[in-house]
Amino acid sequence: MQLQGKKIMLGVTGSIAAYKSAFLTRLLVKEGASVKVIMTPLAREFITPVTLATLSCNTVLCDFFSHDDGAWNSHVELGIWADLFLCAPASANTMARMAHGVCDNLLLTTYLSARCPVMLAPAMDLDMWQHPATRDNTEKLLSRGNIILEPSTGELASGLSGKGRMEEPEIILEKIKTFFAGSGDPGKSDYRPLKGRKVLVTAGPTHEPIDPVRYIGNQSSGKMGYAIAEELAGKGAEVILVSGPVPVLTGHPNIKLVKVKTAGEMLRECLQWFPGCTACIMAAAVADYTPVIAEDRKLKRGSSNFTLEMKPTPDILKELGSIRSKDQVIAGFALESENEKENARKKLKNKNLDFIVLNSLQEGDCFNSDTNKISIIASDGSEADYEMKPKAAVAADIVGYLLSLMARIRPAESENAI
Ligand code: CTP
Repeated sequence: MQLQGKKIMLGVTGSIAAYKSAFLTRLLVKEGASVKVIMTPLAREFITPVTLATLSCNTVLCDFFSHDDGAWNSHVELGIWADLFLCAPASANTMARMAHGVCDNLLLTTYLSARCPVMLAPAMDLDMWQHPATRDNTEKLLSRGNIILEPSTGELASGLSGKGRMEEPEIILEKIKTFFAGSGDPGKSDYRPLKGRKVLVTAGPTHEPIDPVRYIGNQSSGKMGYAIAEELAGKGAEVILVSGPVPVLTGHPNIKLVKVKTAGEMLRECLQWFPGCTACIMAAAVADYTPVIAEDRKLKRGSSNFTLEMKPTPDILKELGSIRSKDQVIAGFALESENEKENARKKLKNKNLDFIVLNSLQEGDCFNSDTNKISIIASDGSEADYEMKPKAAVAADIVGYLLSLMARIRPAESENAI
């Protein structure tokens, strides 16, 4: 109940993303906040006031006065009541009106009267978001101290794909908690929630040598692990990226790249770096077996069958799970072709993880593709299924999940930390 006693004015505007405001209202109320909802006239075409009134446990306000008894809805009182004015979804039209002080509905007059901080979660088509008019309006709102929760990238209602999706309610909730915890401004472009945190990430395959020119490997491209490293670095973390043999896919100054070839080398590096890290995400596709003997000379071709004796590699994640402290968050991946969730849950428990990211082989080739479809299964039994997305967007979901877990495990320490 981190929002106990907080008063949140939720503005809902005319956008297809208005359905998400129902989830958002529910999450805010569950966290203890008092929520009053104001809708623009067009918003009522997308979601009914009854839904939001039921979820917020308050009458929803749409008009300046009640048509039944003429009672006046004072925008001044509403603006003073709130600790936070959150407009989600904020349409391009409402943002433009806010930027220019137009106040021809209750939501806009309340916005102009609000004495509290204002947070906007824009939702619109990608071209509208990129339009110079919207860019200018956004800049104007930012310059006046409004917090803008940037829309995410993905499939849009128009069928196009790009930036413009309203941020997910769970993420907005986390940003509000962070905001009220006084740990930085989640809408500022220089906001770095992981500043001062070290995170270990592994990526790519391992190559287990047979002789000087041959190896046992797999098809991992490393793209998912590198995208996670980039996302973490972008959020201010100091990332140690222990990578198997893939072309280098990053040059981010916050990422220290440690290149390895074999599972044994990866274990050695992980054991060295893990103790100093707040979190670890193990995205590498580590070989499960390695040849018992790596020949030091190239094997010659023969005419009879050839048998290679293999031994198991160390389970790196399991070893890290056995030495972790309760303050460290640790996550792995599971690549499954059958009984996916059941097997992933077994790995989660067996390796002592906080959460596991499930990649299903039934969803296509997650190794070489630029998109991925995941589920996150957590040690508290919760499960979340995500849509097929570009790997950068998947990385943002995973890091967002990590952030929410870290916020629960380790409360704010410094101005910018979680
Ligand atoms: N992993 C690891 N060391 C290994 C094998 C796997 O650290 N030797 C990690 C992977 O990086 C991943 C998680 O364990 O985060 C699960 O990997 P996966 O290959 O799905 O599972 P395995 O434990 O290898 O089991 P199996 O291959 O039999 O499904």
